[in-house]
Amino acid sequence: MENDVKWSELSFGYRKTDYNVRCFYRNGQWGELEISSSEVIPIHMSATCLHYGQEAFEGLKVFRGKDGKIRVFRVDRNAQRLQSSARGLVMAEFPTAKFEEAVGKAVKLNERFIPPYGSGASLYIRPLLIGMSAFVGVKPSEEYLFLIFVTPVGPYFKTGFKPVPVCIMRSFDRAAPQGTGCYKVGGNYAASLIAGQKAYEKGYAAVLYLDPREKLYLDECGPANFLAIRNNTYITPASNSILPSITNESLIQLAADMGLKVERRPVPVSELDSFEETAECGTAAVITPISRIDDLDENRSWVYSKDGKPGPVCEKLYKRLSAIQTGDAPDPYGWVRIIE
Ligand code: PLP
Ligand code: COI
Repeated sequence: MENDVKWSELSFGYRKTDYNVRCFYRNGQWGELEISSSEVIPIHMSATCLHYGQEAFEGLKVFRGKDGKIRVFRVDRNAQRLQSSARGLVMAEFPTAKFEEAVGKAVKLNERFIPPYGSGASLYIRPLLIGMSAFVGVKPSEEYLFLIFVTPVGPYFKTGFKPVPVCIMRSFDRAAPQGTGCYKVGGNYAASLIAGQKAYEKGYAAVLYLDPREKLYLDECGPANFLAIRNNTYITPASNSILPSITNESLIQLAADMGLKVERRPVPVSELDSFEETAECGTAAVITPISRIDDLDENRSWVYSKDGKPGPVCEKLYKRLSAIQTGDAPDPYGWVRIIE
């Protein structure tokens, strides 16, 4: 069946595709993978995911190569991170092999929605894990639903690979110091909506969160990790309250391969003075360079791109990563799996 998607005009949003894949956890075990063409899930009004936020999700991408092959990027790492999020919220862990099988099925069943090579778009895969038991007391669910839907997407920021402005606002945190920031759970995103909305209203693409304990260190940037380049060094924050980004983990390796030193450590706000390039990175954001950072509490600004162009190191990293994801360059670390 043909479809009328204008691939190069896609934004980052939901589009209906043909099928999704589901799996239920009941009586202490996961069932078989089920295929559904419904966009709706049956859910009890008292389910723990609705009341007590027992919900975790993932995000990964699939690319069509020049050779026509379908490549999924680091699917095993997303499976492992979902398991970590499940442990963090006392949910049933979804096994890696089953996760990979579900991704393969969801992609193949919706193959006609994979954007063509060179369109700048990709197929975004959204796995979801939710507590389904009808409890009113605050306790972990006994039943779970794992689900994967896919949707074709364009760039997360509508400007694509162009620097965007971000802001610092100390009156908001997305996560607590020993809380759930290191898990990919809905509650963190709910907590970030208010600051995000204020930032968008003021013309910023994202909020650069500071560490929630002291507000002295950089944490992460909206739905992406923060990175900076200085003196041939790739610098990225280490913090308990940020999500361990699989894109960042990959860029760290690519930066080292390019001869950069890598520092993953607490990064004080004061270091913003010395950076040559700054960017945010993630599956949706890929690498999005930061044009300027405005500290709205202290009335300070740091400018990293005056001409609307990405810095040279970010550009090189972006090209290296994209080439591996699409199969244009060899995959020396086995990050890519071909879906047949
Ligand atoms: N940080 C947050 C809060 C995110 O939502 C994401 C997106 O997944 C990331 C970082 C980047 O993680 P990854 O590179 O694994 O997509
Ligand atoms: C991702 O990059 O995959 C994300 O999950 C970011 C966001 C859209 C929540």
